[in-house]
Amino acid sequence: MYKIIDGKKISQEIKDELKEKVSALKAEGKNICLAVIQVGGDPASSVYVGNKKKACAYIGIESLIYELPEETTQDELLELVRKLNNDNKVNGILVQLPLPKQIDENEVIQTIAPEKDVDGFNEKNVGALCVGSKGFVSCTPSGIIQLLKRSGVEISGKRCVVIGRSNIVGKPMSLLLLRENGTVTICHSRTENIKEITKQADILVVAVGKPKFVDETFIKEGAVVIDVGIHRDADNKLCGDVDFERTAPHTSAITPVPGGVGPMTVAMLMYNCVSSVE
Ligand code: GUN
Repeated sequence: MYKIIDGKKISQEIKDELKEKVSALKAEGKNICLAVIQVGGDPASSVYVGNKKKACAYIGIESLIYELPEETTQDELLELVRKLNNDNKVNGILVQLPLPKQIDENEVIQTIAPEKDVDGFNEKNVGALCVGSKGFVSCTPSGIIQLLKRSGVEISGKRCVVIGRSNIVGKPMSLLLLRENGTVTICHSRTENIKEITKQADILVVAVGKPKFVDETFIKEGAVVIDVGIHRDADNKLCGDVDFERTAPHTSAITPVPGGVGPMTVAMLMYNCVSSVE
């Protein structure tokens, strides 16, 4: 029988630990403030920004939400980021992605001061992760490490396969698993004979962005499967990159969608905000 890795429960534990830390920091006169910028009205982004605002309120972090119009220019956005970089009251800055097409996402990310880049997307933080020095780590992959550790899944020495090579998930995920002494392979859209590789995984992290891409034919019996995707299927029901019904019976543990990786991203963002002050 497989175990369901409960991201809702584990993220709640983390938020409760952080809530205590924040009240201790407040007693020392230290406040935490996160600025969140959303450009345009993408409905999914609005839900994510709303979740971040709610989590801040729960933990005791002040949030400043900037909702900019769809037609915001690159210069206007950069000006706001620079203003927040120079505002001593603001500890963390997050620009919700994706951004409208007239905006150069990379330039915006690289303009955020590395010490306020709680998303961990700035090159300085990515570089720090790569060489193993201190810095902010991207929230979804660090949340996955927490899910594994708090579920008692051993990473050290295990064969870890990551499907996906994005800057937000795939690449930092691989580096974090390596830091935990996993033996890591990255698969992507050009990988040949992908199932031959994924079938060797003790831990399989799926971040391909394709609904139900992975089924039981991709996995070794008893593997741990982490599903980063979130989509709507033909019946408008939420589903992940993994076909849960078909895959779960062949795993030892698996994350559901919803209620797996998703809530961990917000919890780790809160963790990064707290550590920006600590
Ligand atoms: N859009 C989807 N995921 C993320 C994330 O983790 N951070 C930001 N800033 N935007 C996102």
